[in-house]
Amino acid sequence: MPLVHLSDMINHAYRHNYAVGAFGVINPDFLEGVMQAAENCRAPVVLNLIESHFASHDFELLMPAVIAAARRAAVPVAINFDHGTGIASAERAIRAGCNGVMVDTSALPFSDNLWQTRDIVAMAHACGVTVEGELGYVPGVEGESAKIHPGELAYTSAAEAAGFVERTGVDCLAVSVGTVHGRMKGVPKLDYARLAKIREATAVPLVIHGGSGLSDDQFRRLIANGVAKINYYTALSDAASGRIRENVAADRKGDHSALLAGVRDAVREETQRCLRLWGCGGRAAEVLAQCRPWQEVEHVVLYNVSAPSSDSDVAAIMREAKKSMEIIPGVRSIRASVATQPDGKYRHCLLVNLASQAVLEVFRNHPAYQRFSSKVFWPAVADHITLDLEER
Ligand code: 13P
Repeated sequence: MPLVHLSDMINHAYRHNYAVGAFGVINPDFLEGVMQAAENCRAPVVLNLIESHFASHDFELLMPAVIAAARRAAVPVAINFDHGTGIASAERAIRAGCNGVMVDTSALPFSDNLWQTRDIVAMAHACGVTVEGELGYVPGVEGESAKIHPGELAYTSAAEAAGFVERTGVDCLAVSVGTVHGRMKGVPKLDYARLAKIREATAVPLVIHGGSGLSDDQFRRLIANGVAKINYYTALSDAASGRIRENVAADRKGDHSALLAGVRDAVREETQRCLRLWGCGGRAAEVLAQCRPWQEVEHVVLYNVSAPSSDSDVAAIMREAKKSMEIIPGVRSIRASVATQPDGKYRHCLLVNLASQAVLEVFRNHPAYQRFSSKVFWPAVADHITLDLEER
């Protein structure tokens, strides 16, 4: 189960002067390409799910594949939700299986950014989830040309960064030092002196957004100045579409599979280039040994209801359980089931999947859970046992 805590992975990179890549994945070709690259390079990797992409790709459908790919990997993997639009989308991402979240409030005035980020940190940390904040503004849109999104870049101020990190409690900080999302216009000028000051002022790992289009030397200098995570998507998208264009040129009448042939390989090759350049190749074993595994918890309740009670009484309890508890942050799913053998010790089961061990506390103390227990569950139940289980 090589899913690990994202903060542990980034901190390892920060302490050892390299950067992990957070590669935008939008479909199985990207997912397989990135994972093959990480396995080939023996590198830790972050699978990055960018909220804006889910206007055209189904997030809830893709996430089970992302989790399966992470679980079967031999290298450490973390799953990050990127550029969320608010606390509700961060909660949705945690429910879907992300163990890192970034809600982008960087375009807001400083104090609004600070307060909103603080709320995200309170919610996500209670679930054990890593939080990235952003200060300063990195313009542009992933996968598109910076020319068509000319928004003004706002540099991160080192003085503001210190207070922002301290008061929000973020685990890492995305900074604006001259990069843009999407295809660059011209050669970007990066402000390394500013980056060095931010590093000194904050002492948390720094994150670069808009990694596509930077030169090898620029990457090296960013990493030398405290950057421990690099977000990267547009160059993967360009590698994929370049391969499709070659396929069309070779056979204009090619079927769907022929037109998409080699897309995964193109994504893999570009990812491998980055992993080697950013210094994370060959680090998988030490990262795995030094990072806490990310483990979900199954909260299992086996119970019998008091007589007389009908199937519809039990169905009503279950409907109420789902309605009241699925809103609790970190609760991933709630399932109700009935024993197939009629003479077992317990007849009914409530299975609540929690994102991590930390969620147990949030869950037990949440008013929705307490209300459900005292008003619905206890009055109806004759006997029960409860177990909290994690995989070994
Ligand atoms: P690029 O698409 O420019 O690589 O940026 C990706 C990114 O920063 C996602 O947050």
